[in-house]
Amino acid sequence: MSHAAAFAHPLLRVPTPVGWIAQACASQDILLIDHANCEKKAASTALSLMFAYAEDLELTDKMSRLAREELRHYEQVAKLMRGLDVTPQRLAPGRYAERLRRLVAKSEPQREIDLMICGAFIEARSCERFAQLAGAIGAPLCDLFQGLHNAEARHYRVYLDLARRAAKRAGVVLEARIAEFAALEAELITLPDEVFRFHSGPPFSAAGC
Ligand SMILES: [Fe+2]
Ligand SMILES: [Fe+2]
Repeated sequence: MSHAAAFAHPLLRVPTPVGWIAQACASQDILLIDHANCEKKAASTALSLMFAYAEDLELTDKMSRLAREELRHYEQVAKLMRGLDVTPQRLAPGRYAERLRRLVAKSEPQREIDLMICGAFIEARSCERFAQLAGAIGAPLCDLFQGLHNAEARHYRVYLDLARRAAKRAGVVLEARIAEFAALEAELITLPDEVFRFHSGPPFSAAGC
């Protein structure tokens, strides 16, 4: 059975292409630098949602826990980077999160539903990539990625539950909206990408591992 044919996931339609995994194995410094940035961004997104939906105690409680956990992940990545002499840097963000966020509605109540769906996809893809990387990349990165895999699986369910709750409250059918995000997400993951990042598509020409 092929790499893609064997894939089944509650949200994601396609697995990470083998070309991206090969590129990640060959670009471990950038992978770690961008991964550290993604953990900070995940914490920052959770904090922004706490401000945007300040009156919602269930959401703010879940986002507060999530932000703390993402910062602990950041500390784990930063520690590993120090050990490997990899210097943190600002990197221009890739297309992935920005393109997904373009699909988010500007007005409520759809905006909250979309933001939660968006969070669920980003976390689910991180989870899927950690699992792939853990099996393909050498030590010590494989241990870090294996450890983070379970946390990201939990995170995508947190966002998905909040999306379900917001959709129910608004009387909106969640599945149709999830399908729209899933189609875009699959495109961003499979179409060749100019830059290599944690959530990028495969390179135009496959890199060796
Ligand atoms: Fe994380
Ligand atoms: Fe996460």
